[in-house]
Parts: sequence; C-alpha cells; structure tokens
Amino acid sequence: GRVLSVASECVPLLKTGGLADVVGALPGALAAEGWEMRVLMPCYRSLCWRLEGMEQVLVEEALFGGPGRVMAGEVAGRRILLLDAPHLYDREGGPYAGPWGDWGDNAQRFAALSWVAARIAREGLADGWRPDILHAHDWQAGFAPAYLAYGGNVGVRSVLTVHNIAFQGWAPAALLSELRLPMDEFHPAALEYYGGLSSLKAGLVTADHITTVSPTYACELMRPEFGMGLQGVIAARAPSVTGILNGVDTDIWSPEAEERPFSARTLKRKADSRAVLEGAFKLHVPGPLAILVSRLTYQKGIDLIPQVLPDFIAQGGGLAVLGTGDAPLEDAMRELEVRFPGRVGVRIGYDEGLSHLMFAGGDAVLVPSRFEPCGLTQMYGLRYGTVPVVALTGGLADTIINANPAAMAAGCATGITFHPAEPPAFAEALRRLLHLHADPAAWEKVQRNAMKHPVGWETSAARYAALYRELLA
Ligand code: ADP
Ligand code: GLC
Repeated sequence: GRVLSVASECVPLLKTGGLADVVGALPGALAAEGWEMRVLMPCYRSLCWRLEGMEQVLVEEALFGGPGRVMAGEVAGRRILLLDAPHLYDREGGPYAGPWGDWGDNAQRFAALSWVAARIAREGLADGWRPDILHAHDWQAGFAPAYLAYGGNVGVRSVLTVHNIAFQGWAPAALLSELRLPMDEFHPAALEYYGGLSSLKAGLVTADHITTVSPTYACELMRPEFGMGLQGVIAARAPSVTGILNGVDTDIWSPEAEERPFSARTLKRKADSRAVLEGAFKLHVPGPLAILVSRLTYQKGIDLIPQVLPDFIAQGGGLAVLGTGDAPLEDAMRELEVRFPGRVGVRIGYDEGLSHLMFAGGDAVLVPSRFEPCGLTQMYGLRYGTVPVVALTGGLADTIINANPAAMAAGCATGITFHPAEPPAFAEALRRLLHLHADPAAWEKVQRNAMKHPVGWETSAARYAALYRELLA
C-alpha cells in the first residue's frame, strides 16, 4: 500500500523536536512492513537549494495568495515531496515564527499544506502516484483529513497522529471561507472551537482514525488535566483512538557506533565517554553525573530542576545541561552553572553531536516532564545505559520500568520513575538514584536491563501497518 505522510518537519530536512525524528523514521520503518510512504512538507527557505534536481509533480495555481507546486525527490533514502510556495514559506526565520513571534499567516501557511495533501489524495501526482492512506501529523496537517472528508469520499482513508495536544492551530472564525472550509460545518460537533477554528480539532473530528504516540497519553488525552480543551472531542471518538509508541533510530542511537564505543558487555568503557563529557563541561563529579537534553519549557518541568538540584549536588551528584527554550528557564540553567562550578555545566544551544557524547558519557538522564506524549530522550538513555529518571506520565510511563523492590527482584528494572512532577517527588527520585548508584551490582544490573530493552521501530511499525490494513479492509 501507499501512504502520504503530511507534516511540518522531517529529519534530516528540518527539525525543532521529536516530531521531525518520528516523521523521518516512519518511511523506513514502514517500508519494512511493505508500505511505501512519501512525506509532504513545506519548502522552507533553508530547503530551497534541494529543489534543484527534483521533479515537478503537481501545480496549484492559487494557493492562499500565490502559486504553489509540489516537487518530488529523494533525501537520504526517503521519498520527499516539497511544497514550494514562496509567498508562504520562503522567509528568513523558523518554520513557525519569525524574529517577532509566530507568523501572522500560520493558519493559511499550514492550511495550504493540508489542502495540497488532500488534493494529492484525491487526484494523485503527475507521476501516477496516489496514496491509499493520508497520514497527517499534529495541528499543521490537521485540516488535511477535513479537506479530504468535506471534498467527498474518494476511498482514501485518513489518520491523524497527535504528537502534542498543547499546540492546536487556533484561528479566528472569520477565516472560515478564506481557508476553504464549509460554512455549514461551523458548529460544535465539527469545526467550531471556542468560537473560532482549530486545525487540530478539525482533524480530530474528520480523520477516520486518531493515533497518539503512547498508550498512556491516549488515555490521558481524554481527561481535562491533559486534553487542554480537546478532551471531550477525543473521548467522543474513543473507539477510533489508538496509542502507538514511538521508536528510535537504533543505527544513529547506538553506543557501539559512538567515537568511544561500548556495549552491555563492555560497559566499563562507558567511563571513557564520561571523562570526555566531564572535560567538555569542565566538571569534576564524585557521584552520578546526570544529563538533561531538552527544550527548556514548562512542559519539560525544567523549572523543577533548581529546586531539587542543591540536595543532589550536596550528595555528590553533577549535571550537564544542553537545551534552548524560554529565556527565563535558560537563565535559570545558567545561574545553576555559576552557583555550582565544577558540578553543573550548561550549554544553551542545539547540538546533535554534543547530545551523543552526553548520552554516551552520562550516568543518568533526567526527564521531569509535566506531560510527555512519548519522549525520545529516555529511550536514548535506555540504549546507552544512561539510567532514565522520569516523571510517570505519557510515554515516559510506557517505556521505563521503575527500580522498585518488585522490579529489582524480578530483574527487570530499567530506570527510576516519580509522580507527581513536583519538587518533593523529584527530589526523592534523585535520592533513589544516588542510593542505586552507590550499589555497583544493582546499578549495573539496571544499566544492562535498560540496554536490552527494545526501543527500535519494529513493534510500532507493525502496529501502524495493521491499522492501515484495518482502515482499508
Ligand atoms: P519534544 O519533541 O517534545 O521536544 P522529544 O523527546 O520527543 O521531545 O524529542 C526531542 C528531540 O530533540 C530528541 O531527539 C532530542 O535529543 C532533541 N533535542 C532537544 N533539544 C536538543 C538540543 N538542545 N540539542 C540537540 N538535540 C536536542
Ligand atoms: C512531541 C512530544 C514528544 C514526542 C514527539 C514525537 O514533540 O512533545 O513527547 O516524543 O512529539 O512524537
């Protein structure tokens, strides 16, 4: 079968978060299941050079204020469709925001992406390719299932994957006709959302099936604490909602492929990477060295770190931080570095290479998220025997087995979990980490369990394939 995957980011072309990792990994993972997936994404300015050598497969004369065309090509083994519409995407700045904040025409920019996706589903491309499944990701592609549904059934089935409910693609109701949406669908059971429009809600009510990136998040989304206003919409569709865990690319995230390779059998060599990591951050840490690789935002619970860190440091721990995000949280991290010289090192920025060294050399990875649809860094931690210390929520709850007495006795513990994501529980989890680390045999056992835990795409790719088959049956 054929799948058109529609998203705003995809590695290795453009990434701001885990969405790009997942969208970029799915084509390869599903190829192993016999599905041909092409990825449609906007041709941002940074991607324009790639148009050369690509083949034009669709033209759209009037695409929300200018012409657009779809160019097909191959990037690192993936079939990529770039939506080239300079009036929408050829600008200096990020995919969602310019130097002064979010682009004012984001509604039109991503409606355009969705419109073209639905058209490809209906009519196919000039090279004769037409999908059986339209797979939309997050709010940026939320209108795609809606355009497909409202345009009349053509046999193509649609799936919407929610990677993060916090971003809902809100737009004023006045844009209804400009966005080519049917006026008579503007009511609470369809397009209307708190008096306006939400591309995510539009997708949630029109997609044939909804998935999210972990089973626990699928349940959480139906509750007011996590649904962020959309809990009722999702609960109403409960029979068509499935949680499918993300995987990680185990070729890229492999301790054996690092500069100083190690494996579960040669775990002692992890110390070489730790030494280099300490050097890179100018650290001298007697106890466990924790790492944090994250967007620095409220979701990720970063503000909890300054509250729990002093005790952890006093007990011999250390922390290396790599991240970018909200300015106050970046400042808070820098302050920790000043306050605990030699024990806390902070790099504000985005650095893929450094993140590899951190997972290779760290003893533990901290993921104190308030909510986490899936999360990837705890799975990198598993791969590298870098013990995950995670809040018990969403995908974190589905991927880490807490080192409680039962799990230790059963020999299956892979990390440390805590709940709720508040300072007392987090501080207590760090005490458990120190305690475990002080017992080398128990610590190594947890590391080895972690490294054995399967985090590849095989199981989840099979689930997506099964879902596609069911939808077409
Ligand atoms: P989210 O998508 O919510 O940010 P995920 O855990 O799903 O969270 O994915 C985050 C991805 O971005 C991971 O691949 C992580 O390693 C990477 N990442 C986040 N911040 C940085 C950074 N500052 N430098 C390098 N990689 C980062
Ligand atoms: C979102 C979520 C994250 C998830 C990623 C990929 O960015 O915040 O938890 O891993 O999407 O699905």
